[in-house]
Amino acid sequence: MSDLAEIWLVAIGSGVAVGLAGLLAGWLLRHRSLRWQLAVVGVVTTLTVLVGVQAISRQMLISDHDRSVVLIVTSAAAVVSLAVALVLATALVRWSQSLREEVRRVGDGGAVVAGRHGPAEFQGLASDLADANRRLAEAREREQRLEDSRRELVSWVSHDLRTPLAGIRAMAEALEDGVAVEPSRYHRQIRGEVDRMVLMVDDLFELSRIHAGQLVVEPQAISLGDLVSEAIAAADPVARARGVQLGGEVPHGLQVDADPAGLSRVLANLIVNGIRHTPADGSVHVIARPVDGGVELAVTDGCGGIADDARDRLFEVGYRGTSSRTPEGSELQDVHTARAGLGLAIVKGIVEAHHGRVAVENVPAAAGCRFRVVLPA
Ligand SMILES: Nc1ncnc2c1ncn2[C@@H]1O[C@H](COP(=O)(O)OP(=O)(O)OP(=O)(O)O)[C@@H](O)[C@H]1O
Ligand SMILES: [Mg+2]
Repeated sequence: MSDLAEIWLVAIGSGVAVGLAGLLAGWLLRHRSLRWQLAVVGVVTTLTVLVGVQAISRQMLISDHDRSVVLIVTSAAAVVSLAVALVLATALVRWSQSLREEVRRVGDGGAVVAGRHGPAEFQGLASDLADANRRLAEAREREQRLEDSRRELVSWVSHDLRTPLAGIRAMAEALEDGVAVEPSRYHRQIRGEVDRMVLMVDDLFELSRIHAGQLVVEPQAISLGDLVSEAIAAADPVARARGVQLGGEVPHGLQVDADPAGLSRVLANLIVNGIRHTPADGSVHVIARPVDGGVELAVTDGCGGIADDARDRLFEVGYRGTSSRTPEGSELQDVHTARAGLGLAIVKGIVEAHHGRVAVENVPAAAGCRFRVVLPA
């Protein structure tokens, strides 16, 4: 065997032996700090050289002096590489500790800044963390808003139910004691109030189904001409009583795939709102027309326009324009003037369950606003 081949064999053999010992040490230290792993790398590198030189020098019969020189040089290299490994390990440990602190801040809901220190992997991790933290903060904020509006709704609804219930109790007591001047009027009013509360409870039930994702949409081909004329016929008595002109226009044969009960409810809510917000002698107009990728239903009224900040909130549950929850006027209200702020939230829920969208815009020419519902064809 040639000298060179022998040197190769000895170097590889001793290198593999030291490498295996290093792997074993790394495995034993796997749960320790990163420092230990890097120290193992430094020690293995220099030990490989040391052991290799030692083995070769014995076989090559080099002088003791030469062997000492080689040993001194490799020992110095060992010390330097170990020191460098430890310095690098200390830096790595520091970067990983600052990442740990960032992670802890995520848990506490604090701000995380994507760090520009450390190796590319650490920077990537820090920027992913900052991203995740931002999304988490947005989700928390959304959840908080939802929770606030739910809490508000419960207090509003209990207020809105308590007021008519107190009225009903007072009227029932007057009837019981025989002190009611006009018993038939009391009976009518009690009936009206009960109808109003039934509507409100129905709306609440519908909304809770929408929020729970349990709204069942059973689409079928609906003639929009029939749907619009039925909705107009149903609301016409209220419009007449308020002196509001109600009309509609639908191209012949226009159809849409939708849930008939859901879409009727959407249209009825929009028309009742329009009538309610249009002054006497004004008009509410319903049109349906084909648009790109679907069908549009639009209800235009003469409400005088809606302020920008209010327009963003109309579809929120419980929003009804003012902070006051007391029914307007001292007289008990009929079912068409009842206001719980649920109508448009239901409209939005039903439309979105159909994968459609609803929006509102001001129409200065009509001194009013237009609610547009677009349903996919
Ligand atoms: N056509 C409209 N013109 C002007 N403002 C409107 C119109 N429709 C709704 N709004 C405003 O949006 C609010 C919310 O409407 P929404 O239909 O959700 O509730 P509501 O009509 O007050 O009560 P509910 O429909 O539960 O009886 C209304 O209180 C009103 O301030
Ligand atoms: Mg309404």
